[in-house]
Amino acid sequence: MTPRASTLLLAGLLGCSDIGPAELERGEAELLGTISRQLPTSDATDARAALVRDAWRREHRFLDAAAPGHLFASTRVSQDEIDAGLWSHDALYQLGGQLFTLQFTRAMGLGAATPGLRRVHDGRRGGPDAYGCTTCHWRGGLAGAGDAADNAMLRGDGEHMSSALARNPPALVGAGLRERVAAQMNAELAALRQDTVAFAVEAGYAVRVPLEVRGIRFGHLTVHPDGEVDTSEVEGIDRDLVIKPFGWKGTVASIRDAAEDALLVHHGMQSTHLVDDGDASRVGGGGGDDPDRDGVVDEIVEGQVTALVAFLALLEVPQEEIPSGDPYLATVWARGRLDFETLGCARCHVPVHTIDDARAVLPHRDGGPALTLDLLRDGAEPRLAPAAQDGALTVRLYSDLARHRMGEALAEPRAFDGVEPDAFLTPPLWGVARSRPYLHDGRAPTLEDAILLHGGEAQSSRDAYAALDDAGRAPLRVFLTSLGRATRLVTP
Ligand code: HEC
Ligand code: HEC
Repeated sequence: MTPRASTLLLAGLLGCSDIGPAELERGEAELLGTISRQLPTSDATDARAALVRDAWRREHRFLDAAAPGHLFASTRVSQDEIDAGLWSHDALYQLGGQLFTLQFTRAMGLGAATPGLRRVHDGRRGGPDAYGCTTCHWRGGLAGAGDAADNAMLRGDGEHMSSALARNPPALVGAGLRERVAAQMNAELAALRQDTVAFAVEAGYAVRVPLEVRGIRFGHLTVHPDGEVDTSEVEGIDRDLVIKPFGWKGTVASIRDAAEDALLVHHGMQSTHLVDDGDASRVGGGGGDDPDRDGVVDEIVEGQVTALVAFLALLEVPQEEIPSGDPYLATVWARGRLDFETLGCARCHVPVHTIDDARAVLPHRDGGPALTLDLLRDGAEPRLAPAAQDGALTVRLYSDLARHRMGEALAEPRAFDGVEPDAFLTPPLWGVARSRPYLHDGRAPTLEDAILLHGGEAQSSRDAYAALDDAGRAPLRVFLTSLGRATRLVTP
């Protein structure tokens, strides 16, 4: 351990007030050490980094034994300091990463007054069902997916599995770009709506237009001459014409909403914002500043939420790995890429989105300055890179960010936040080779199972695949297997 790292550990041990932002800015990657944004330059550096991480964790076990919760304490940065620009984007990534990987305890505010964890969520209040984010987001590397045994049992009665909706933990990599793509489409949808209203009012007759942005259709919009907007034919998104790019049902608007809700429902860690603004069905009926009545107040401060969101927004971007060693596999892969189009998969799993800029903008809750992250520069490696020829920014997401009706067999027992039981957001397929099992409840152990379970709007696509013999199916499977993540040594 470097002297600098020991300084930080010591500062953490002393309750963290001594780790000023300035101290961190100088060598923070080394200081907080375990979560690096850099991709190792060689296998040797990768191995060394893995050993350093392991040593760091060992050291922390000792420190935690001496002063429980010191690491958590060191993540309690103040929003005012973030607003003042005292924390670098890298430092926020590190701090958010610490919060993402540590284990919450009762002293920090884990859970409510109930003893133990609760597998089945109690309505919108949730569990707690886990001690940390990495319990469920681990497969395939940092902030990855979860196994079927890690499924969250959402919105149940707190007791019976059959009362809840089983949801498989998705991988979180690329979240910043995903939110960016949605933000751009949302801006264009809003502009289209506005233009259509202006046109109808000016023309003096009703206008019905296809609601289409960047080649993706969301049904139709009708505007009457008095400017009244009829959204009854809008498809795949909510009537407010706002794409919500997160959650299997496409109901979560931002990384911040997802992260703050995750803290609440999986860990019972209540942010000061939710304590102030959340209704009792979410935070508990205790009132005051301790609505979950666990004796801990200010469980998660605003700066911590911001750091966690920055970490999630800056996560690495999934990669496509074309099989290169074996000429046979390379040919099969190329065939599979074509099949993805001809079988109709690309209709929903839209491969490429071009974005105008690659900023992740984290709005300030209380009207302060937004935190703007430059994903081309601040993001963890591998990050998005502009195309060599024309500087175009292409996000290989494999999703239209729209909801589709997937048929009876995949339907949940009931609607969810107003979304029909069989409607799901097209999950992005980037990184899919590293995130099994598949589908909203993890019922598909393999990619092929996932395809064969498609129904509803995807029935014809599924049937076209099912009609192929095994040799005919192989190329698509090989192609999907190339949608992976950069290789790193992972020490769990
Ligand atoms: C018990 C398992 C579990 C734990 C623990 C957990 N998550 Fe999740 N996470 C899920 C599931 C399941 C979903 C999908 C929920 C849905 O679609 O309804 C999800 C979704 C998300 C999303 C939205 C991603 C997307 O593609 O829709 C984010 C962001 C996220 N989690 C962050 C976190 C953070 C941060 C923590 C820790 C504070 C955390 N999660 C802890 C299971 C978990
Ligand atoms: C009509 C739109 C649509 C079409 C066409 C479609 N899909 Fe999907 N796909 C979805 C939706 C929606 C889901 C999520 C369903 C669920 O979770 O229950 C999904 C899920 C998946 C998954 C699982 C992803 C994960 O992370 O769990 C894979 C793999 C997949 N699709 C591949 C394909 C392939 C390959 C094709 C072409 C043969 C295809 N899809 C055609 C909409 C579509």
